[in-house]
Amino acid sequence: MFETEITRKLKIQYPIFQAPMAGGPTKPELVAAVSNAGGLGNLGAAYLTPEQLRGAIHQTRELTDKPFGVNLFVPEQPEESQEAVSQMIDYLNKYRDKLGIVPNPAIPKFSESFEEQVQVLLEEQISVFSFTFGIPPHETIEAMKQRGTVVLGTATTVEEAKLLETAGVNAIVAQGCEAGGHRGTFLKKVSESLIGTMALVPQIVDHVSIPVIASGGVMDGRGLVASLALGAGAVQMGTAFLVCPESGAHEVYKQKILAATEDSTEITSAYSGKPARGIRTAFMDDMHRYPGTIPAFPIQNALTRDIRQAAAKANAPEYMSLWAGQGLRLVNDQSAAAIVKQTIEQAEALVKKSFIYNS
Ligand SMILES: Cc1cc2nc3c(=O)[nH]c(=O)nc-3n(C[C@H](O)[C@H](O)[C@H](O)COP(=O)(O)O)c2cc1C
Repeated sequence: MFETEITRKLKIQYPIFQAPMAGGPTKPELVAAVSNAGGLGNLGAAYLTPEQLRGAIHQTRELTDKPFGVNLFVPEQPEESQEAVSQMIDYLNKYRDKLGIVPNPAIPKFSESFEEQVQVLLEEQISVFSFTFGIPPHETIEAMKQRGTVVLGTATTVEEAKLLETAGVNAIVAQGCEAGGHRGTFLKKVSESLIGTMALVPQIVDHVSIPVIASGGVMDGRGLVASLALGAGAVQMGTAFLVCPESGAHEVYKQKILAATEDSTEITSAYSGKPARGIRTAFMDDMHRYPGTIPAFPIQNALTRDIRQAAAKANAPEYMSLWAGQGLRLVNDQSAAAIVKQTIEQAEALVKKSFIYNS
């Protein structure tokens, strides 16, 4: 019932993408479970080394012969003064003290090499390549497409979507401001690009001629039907899959999500230097009082890594990043396959009884 241009292009049964979620949740088990259930699983691979990335692709392929996607972050090279970095390291020492880890750690590597990650994806001839935070070089998009890879770019405004279409992507992920995780905004300030999914999707649909995937706050069959009605060809759901047994999210993170409500999240740059939506924590609240400038992504992300890792080890969610969207009350802890199945069944039932079909 829900065949669309993008499901045909990707050769998938249902217009349901499980969002790529870098940092642990989108393990091969989750990605493969969603693809095996008829949707499109996506590996959030931005923080993986080239070797880890290749390993994750191979592992996923062992678990499914269906298409799945891999997602990377378009790199940014912020210039931050040594003073701002030192000041932040110094400030962060109070959390290190609380968590019993060493103060003033050596400055870690800020990010993995995008070029090396892309090389792995080209060698592995993956089915779908998606990206966020910008637009990769033209040659990268073309090289992917030449290998038969479908390329998806993330937009948070109509202008970003138009640029992505001009750059040659096959489809646009329209990320509304309800979405969990980092904002994909790359043209204007994030504060000027916070458009809700309901408003964003039809406006992007009206201004591009390629398929649009609705992302942000879609949690069930109601969200799927609404997105299709707005002109989307599929939905990308992140928060809905975070607490599945197949998700690699930390157990206390899962518990926090299950206990959270629609007003529990906030957009913050405290953890990574880039605005991202997550469940409010003591760390976020305290960082509001930081007197200096928070270093930009990926510097701040690297500077807080030891704290987030130690917090995870100590089961201390108040210092972990708990990325999540606004659809929190709609989360349940079923398997990934059950979420795909129920979303489709609910959407089918809605369409059957909808006024569109009865009138
Ligand atoms: C924990 C988490 C991690 C995320 N990581 C990524 C990522 O690595 N790449 C990406 O393009 N989007 C990422 N996102 C954003 C999703 O692609 C998507 O926009 C979002 O999950 C949709 O909103 P929802 O969470 O309300 O479903 C992440 C979202 C969450 C919740």
